[in-house]
Amino acid sequence: MKFLVFLVVFPLVTAFASNFSQEYDLTWGSDRVRILNNGELLTLSLDKDSGSGFQSRKEYLFGKMSVQLKLVPGDSAGTVTSYYLASQGSTWDEIDFEFLGNLSGDPYTVHTNVITGGKGGREQQFHLWFDPTADFHTYSILWNPQVIIFYVDGTPIRQFKNLGSSKAPFPNRQAMRIHSSIWNGDEWATRGGLIKTDWSKAPFTASYRNMSTQACIWTYGSGAYPCGSSSWLARELDGPSLERLMWVQKRYMIYNYCMDPKRFTQGPPLECVANT
Ligand SMILES: *[C@@H]1O[C@H](CO)[C@@H](O)[C@H](O)[C@H]1NC(C)=O
Ligand SMILES: *[C@@H]1O[C@H](CO)[C@@H](O)[C@H](O)[C@H]1NC(C)=O
Ligand SMILES: *[C@@H]1O[C@H](CO)[C@@H](O)[C@H](O)[C@H]1NC(C)=O
Repeated sequence: MKFLVFLVVFPLVTAFASNFSQEYDLTWGSDRVRILNNGELLTLSLDKDSGSGFQSRKEYLFGKMSVQLKLVPGDSAGTVTSYYLASQGSTWDEIDFEFLGNLSGDPYTVHTNVITGGKGGREQQFHLWFDPTADFHTYSILWNPQVIIFYVDGTPIRQFKNLGSSKAPFPNRQAMRIHSSIWNGDEWATRGGLIKTDWSKAPFTASYRNMSTQACIWTYGSGAYPCGSSSWLARELDGPSLERLMWVQKRYMIYNYCMDPKRFTQGPPLECVANT
């Protein structure tokens, strides 16, 4: 089946700060998900009994998704706060931002991954150039037919290009929802699992606001997915953006699967050549 992209051109502003009460559903954690300020702020909490999460009601095939996020302050070791896109089923696609907590004063790790057809293993990790618990910062995923770009406060930190399915899989067939959650990942998250969650510090709370979505909204059966304002649909990194990405990777990248010969003894995956 071939999908058509119908471009509908709206007047300039199509990125609405979404109202959490209207656009998102709680997925788990019951009252650990709290919607405040008339739908403008959402908090997720984790305690010993449960984490919590929410997801978008709509599904999207391509888009530029952003959120402003303030991470768990203080001792957040063992906790994982996430913001990601995912489809359903056993051969799902997923584009991940995961924020791995740390002891007070030690840096959070931003963990990114791209999963296609249920297969991941494409991790890149970064430290940040600011304290992500002191204030809200913007984390964005741009996902179009050519490329996936991860941004922090508008600065690109990672790209994952579509090289064509014969070379490397790229998620471009399955619609995804926006998901967010907080959970206990102390088996692996902080210093590889050495540091466990200190439950005496619970509940651990992360705050979300201004989720904005410029995207092609998927509607089952119609075969069409209108994209609204779509400058992002053709976007790729230009020279200056690529330089900023390289600057960030040089200073703040702490793990890159493409440079892990222990995992890939036959040489790195094909997409690595185009994405560094
Ligand atoms: C958000 O949606 C809720 C429920 O529909 C409504 O009560 C609230 O006024 C909305 N908030 C804003 C800022 O429009
Ligand atoms: C926690 O801090 C340590 C020490 O600075 C650092 O090596 C690690 O990358 C940080 N992040 C996580 C999630 O462990
Ligand atoms: C909300 O997010 C959008 C898209 O990232 C941004 O353009 C806008 O300035 C943000 N609004 C506020 C109040 O921060």
